Amino acid sequence: MTINTDTTTVSEIPVRTPVKRTVLMCKPEFFTVVYRINPWMDPALPTNTALAVAQWQTLYDTYVSLGFDVHLIDPIDGLPDMVYAANGGFVIDNHAYGAKFTHVQRQPEGPAYMDWFGANGFDVRVPIETNEGEGDFLLVGDVILAGTGFRSDSNSHAEVASIAARPVITLNLVNPNFYHLDTAIAVLDDTNIAYLPSAFDEPSLAILRERYPDAVIVTEEDAAILGLNSYSDGYNVVIAARAKDFERQLRARGYNPIGVDLSELLLGGGGVKCCTLELRR
Ligand code: ARG
Repeated sequence: MTINTDTTTVSEIPVRTPVKRTVLMCKPEFFTVVYRINPWMDPALPTNTALAVAQWQTLYDTYVSLGFDVHLIDPIDGLPDMVYAANGGFVIDNHAYGAKFTHVQRQPEGPAYMDWFGANGFDVRVPIETNEGEGDFLLVGDVILAGTGFRSDSNSHAEVASIAARPVITLNLVNPNFYHLDTAIAVLDDTNIAYLPSAFDEPSLAILRERYPDAVIVTEEDAAILGLNSYSDGYNVVIAARAKDFERQLRARGYNPIGVDLSELLLGGGGVKCCTLELRR
């Protein structure tokens, strides 16, 4: 009998536990790029709606295979960005705080999502302030990180605080390529995040460094393909397939990164997380 007394081989990678998620998605049946409201969008470039649908389907199938409860909202012709369901609202404790979009092109999506929330048993809170839902509000444990600078008005941060009854931390985004908070921060679990430092101003960076000393810092390269725009259940982290260094860092920390290719939806300036709205009853 051999007894292994070599404790140095004992791995220090933490064991992560997945938590089942319930999410809302919108099939990109009417996806295209016909206006430009972020630097990623170029109406002169061709888009392939069938390919967008096929890529989106792999994301949907991935969530189903992870055991998620995936709900669908009907896409609406003429609202090509509706696929980015994260912007449809912020849902917590069964309250659905509706979105009020910055750009006129997306404004009809606000009521469309609120109708869905109402029809599905959520307590709809009609917004007064401009906000783009989970694009700019990220729940980390019991704290809401709230982005501003490009889309959501900072006044919406107080509004979400009054509805969610959680501390809300304002973060200022400074790089137009990372115009929503979910393009600059990925929530990994209840205590940790990944982020791109250059997307934030100095005061916001100081907050992030202090609150999340163990955060994953992604490379500019990974961020530049919206690699941070990912969705985690606490163990499985669905990320952009091309975000190779992010993948490596997640694996080293005991997460299970799962790459998905959403190149077509990147033409609209969105990735995995943009296509995913978490529903919290
Ligand atoms: N074309 C959309 C827009 O500019 C993309 C939204 C991406 N969504 C997100 N949650 N980051 O509004």
